[in-house]
Amino acid sequence: MIIFATSDKGGTGRSVTSCNIAYRRAMQGSNVCYLDFDFGSPTAGAIFGVEAAGQGTSSGSGLHTYLAGGAADAEQLDIWARSRLGGRWSKPLGAGRLTLLPGDAGGGDFPVDDGMVRRCSDLFLRLDEEFELTLVDLSSGRSYATELALRVTADPIIATKTARWLVFHRWTRQHIVAAAGLVYGPQGILDTGSGFGHERRELEDRIRFVRTAVLEPDSAQFAALRPEQSVWLESYNTDLEKLAGKLHLGMSMMLGSIPLDPVLQWREQIIVEEDIAAVRIVNEETGQAFEALARRLTDDNLWEGL
Ligand SMILES: Nc1ncnc2c1ncn2[C@@H]1O[C@H](COP(=O)(O)OP(=O)(O)OP(=O)(O)O)[C@@H](O)[C@H]1O
Ligand SMILES: [Mg+2]
Repeated sequence: MIIFATSDKGGTGRSVTSCNIAYRRAMQGSNVCYLDFDFGSPTAGAIFGVEAAGQGTSSGSGLHTYLAGGAADAEQLDIWARSRLGGRWSKPLGAGRLTLLPGDAGGGDFPVDDGMVRRCSDLFLRLDEEFELTLVDLSSGRSYATELALRVTADPIIATKTARWLVFHRWTRQHIVAAAGLVYGPQGILDTGSGFGHERRELEDRIRFVRTAVLEPDSAQFAALRPEQSVWLESYNTDLEKLAGKLHLGMSMMLGSIPLDPVLQWREQIIVEEDIAAVRIVNEETGQAFEALARRLTDDNLWEGL
């Protein structure tokens, strides 16, 4: 399965959440690869703790070079061997593969041409054979990366593979409106996708929303607020729920909600079990939310909201 991660706004938590989903799925035993398609700022390596690719790779075969036709294959980095996740430099027993395909260091955004669509299509087909989950972190907004993903997945050969889309947004009025615009609005994903040959309803069925950095009304953090603050937040939360429902990103279109976590507020990282259970710097709810989202991605019943 190929999963595209996108958002309208920048800084939504799209990459941190996607990296954590990839990690969780690998821990659950799936072979997972992560493609950094945020061409203007390919920094997924930093979140995974892969120092050599913290701001993209300098190997000469990052995704920019591969897609432009300058390398026969795109570099694959074994995250388990390159990052000290959970205090070790190796794959934990029972875990699946966890592989990063980094962008090029210094690589910028670029317009899409037919050659790129062909090479991208080849890459997705090869990776889909090799990995159970291919996670593609796209640039935010109506980007070239999104155009490329829509063009490639409209191709009848790729269309036989399951592709799903996650649209990340923060739990604020502006982010809700923006996320809805990216999917349903003019030149949005559905418009652009239809233009490339996608069936609109089918494409819409492949899209779900993920709320990030949410201050949950029933959480301990909420209880620490002054009564006036809780009353206001609770009432505004209801307004946001109504707005989300009206704009078609209500509960039935939502695949997950990740709570606001103090550690992630300050550091972009993979949350390992030790952070929660041993050093106790991360809230248990954060780990549970990543875990649940990682499972829901490929569960057809949960995807359909059954
Ligand atoms: N659940 C969370 N709680 C608190 N902070 C979070 C949470 N998720 C992400 N963040 C923080 O929000 C910031 C933006 O996250 P991230 O870089 O993942 O977003 P993005 O949408 O990929 O941004 P960009 O558009 O720059 O690629 C980071 O500092 C990250 O650590
Ligand atoms: Mg990002």
